[in-house]
Amino acid sequence: MTDQMKAVVLARFGGADVFELRDVAVPTVGPRQVRVRVHATALNPLDYQVRRGDYADYVPLPAITGHDISGVIEEVGSNVSEFGVGDEVYYTPQIFGGPGSYAEQHVADVDLVGRKPKNLTHLEAASLTLVGGTVWEALVTRAQLTVGETILIHGGTGGVGTIAIQVAKAMGARVITTAKAGDHEFVRSLGADEVIDYTSTDYVDAVSELTGGQGVDVVFDTIGGDALTRGPLILADFGRVVSIVDIAQPQNLIEAWGKNAAYHFVFTRQNRGKLDALTALVERGLVKPVVGAVLPLARMGEAHELLENRRSYALYGKVAIDVAGDTVALPARIS
Ligand SMILES: NC(=O)c1ccc[n+]([C@@H]2O[C@H](COP(=O)([O-])OP(=O)(O)OC[C@H]3O[C@@H](n4cnc5c(N)ncnc54)[C@H](OP(=O)(O)O)[C@@H]3O)[C@@H](O)[C@H]2O)c1
Repeated sequence: MTDQMKAVVLARFGGADVFELRDVAVPTVGPRQVRVRVHATALNPLDYQVRRGDYADYVPLPAITGHDISGVIEEVGSNVSEFGVGDEVYYTPQIFGGPGSYAEQHVADVDLVGRKPKNLTHLEAASLTLVGGTVWEALVTRAQLTVGETILIHGGTGGVGTIAIQVAKAMGARVITTAKAGDHEFVRSLGADEVIDYTSTDYVDAVSELTGGQGVDVVFDTIGGDALTRGPLILADFGRVVSIVDIAQPQNLIEAWGKNAAYHFVFTRQNRGKLDALTALVERGLVKPVVGAVLPLARMGEAHELLENRRSYALYGKVAIDVAGDTVALPARIS
């Protein structure tokens, strides 16, 4: 083992150009931890929110950030029996709890780590951990979506939306999603039954029409804005609204009482159980991560720029980082 590794370090908060590729010390392994050779990571909006300083109180600088890992275990702690050296694993590091995934090696508590699905590449597996865990928490644990129910998933082409569509279909739901007109074929290919062009149509009217005035059982808010306030306008009685977007401004929920609506607010927490459930769906061919762009570790700033300005690109799903290699796959620029 070498005691140095390459890592992308955030030395100050700011734009996509603030990252520095540095040689840093490889972290040591505690008794209930594993050290992982990181093959791939992926980006989430949380990454650029952290980089900009939105969570400055939680991120002491300099920091290694990043929230998705797929790789191979190189060392296990003295009290670890569930994994061994050479095992392929994937996980989300503890958010705001130590070094993240933008590095060649990472040390994690073993309870966070899941066995990587056999039928996924590291780039695909890294693209699933945070968004997949979030979708599981939102649709299964909180909304308790069931067979035959109808769900509206806002933002079907995004990192979360692409997985939510597939998980909701695997659960037997009827899926309505929102996407720009040119993206409808893509979200249908993931399993969406109906698609609303959010740029030209009011989704409240469209959902009413698609459900014969009944409304949907679950609204999955991945976009913020007024989605919480308008949620009850498209809910069936006793419907559920699940939001993963924290908004600092007060929200008017007056319409929710008339529908006996339940609201769930999710900030995803990591554990192996959710990953194991996702692995089962992936290995049965029911869920496949969507990797829309790939860049090597040294081009992290460019990767951030891509995700932050995704509307300027034909970008579907995730921006992944080939940490162990130098793959480059970029989406077309559209504006
Ligand atoms: N609380 C949690 O635990 C948690 C976990 C994961 C993510 N999140 C949050 O969830 C949000 C989505 O994450 P992500 O990874 O999916 O982001 P992403 O990959 O950047 O995708 C964003 C998606 O939202 C769509 N969108 C934007 N405005 C829209 C609108 N008005 N109507 C319909 N669709 C719209 C985009 O579509 P276009 O391509 O058409 O613009 C895109 O599909 C972010 O705010 C993120 O911070 C929270």
